[in-house]
Amino acid sequence: MTHQNVPGLTLNNGVRIPQLGYGVFQIPGEKTQEAVEAALEAGYRHIDTAAAYRNEAGVGSAIAASGIPREDLFITTKLRNGDQARARDAFEESRDALGLERVDLYLIHWPVPSQGLFLQAWNDLEQIYSDGLARAIGVSNFLPDHLQELTRAADVAPAVNQIELHPTFQQRALADATRRHGMAVEAYSPLGQGEDLSNNAVVEISLRHQATPAQVVLAWQLASGNIVIPKSATPQRMRENLASVSVELTARDMEQINELDAGRRIGADPATASFSQY
Ligand SMILES: NC(=O)c1ccc[n+]([C@@H]2O[C@H](COP(=O)([O-])OP(=O)(O)OC[C@H]3O[C@@H](n4cnc5c(N)ncnc54)[C@H](OP(=O)(O)O)[C@@H]3O)[C@@H](O)[C@H]2O)c1
Repeated sequence: MTHQNVPGLTLNNGVRIPQLGYGVFQIPGEKTQEAVEAALEAGYRHIDTAAAYRNEAGVGSAIAASGIPREDLFITTKLRNGDQARARDAFEESRDALGLERVDLYLIHWPVPSQGLFLQAWNDLEQIYSDGLARAIGVSNFLPDHLQELTRAADVAPAVNQIELHPTFQQRALADATRRHGMAVEAYSPLGQGEDLSNNAVVEISLRHQATPAQVVLAWQLASGNIVIPKSATPQRMRENLASVSVELTARDMEQINELDAGRRIGADPATASFSQY
């Protein structure tokens, strides 16, 4: 499986994003370079990190060591909650840590409505975008009312909403609202942090396709039009997850997985999340 097999999606500003990428949440800083080097070796060209993950430097070292032309890579990072009042400076810190001239996608990590700062932060992201330092800008964990408030005020339309989305937590209303605003849906924790993989229907479908449960879940995500960023610390699973691009589900398989939605959120609720470590 090579990166040429991974389909691309076109964002609302014309920028192409590989629909399947590699997420590095919870990979310790000192292990990140090795993990990202293995992911690049496996064929990933899209990496998702965040200032809050404290591993941007490891991502940057892996990119530098890989020798892969910069234009072949798509690198996302995110603004930490505590930095919404100083987004421009925080962005420069991320850029330094990554060792990159520019990033491909820069996201506001959480809306933190109680802070009342996301519109101010968005102004800074618009400036970063117009200075050519981020090829696209967007948000993460924004709920429909946050999207409404943001898109009313924005000069540059947000390109992406990165949200928790997996078979037992499908967030259909939020995904629909995201698309209505012209934004792409990016699914985080796309495997339900591994917990959706033992679901009976998922296992049954995987046996029918001689695929693994992870490949079935990722194939469902891709066929649903979502960008996906599964994380694995092990090279064998990185390759397995990448190979999901060649698994073709039937309409019946898709329907069976659509029926698994159980409102089972794993992460924090964006309406109330305000934890400062992010
Ligand atoms: N914007 C946000 O607020 C936010 C929040 C959470 C996550 N994210 C992003 O989304 C990415 C992915 O989400 P996530 O890490 O929470 O969860 P995930 O990708 O759904 O699941 C990762 C877990 O599944 C296991 N796994 C991966 N591939 C597997 C396979 N083929 N077979 C069996 N188990 C497998 C991994 O174990 P091993 O590592 O041991 O293989 C790990 O425990 C993150 O890395 C991050 O980039 C964003």
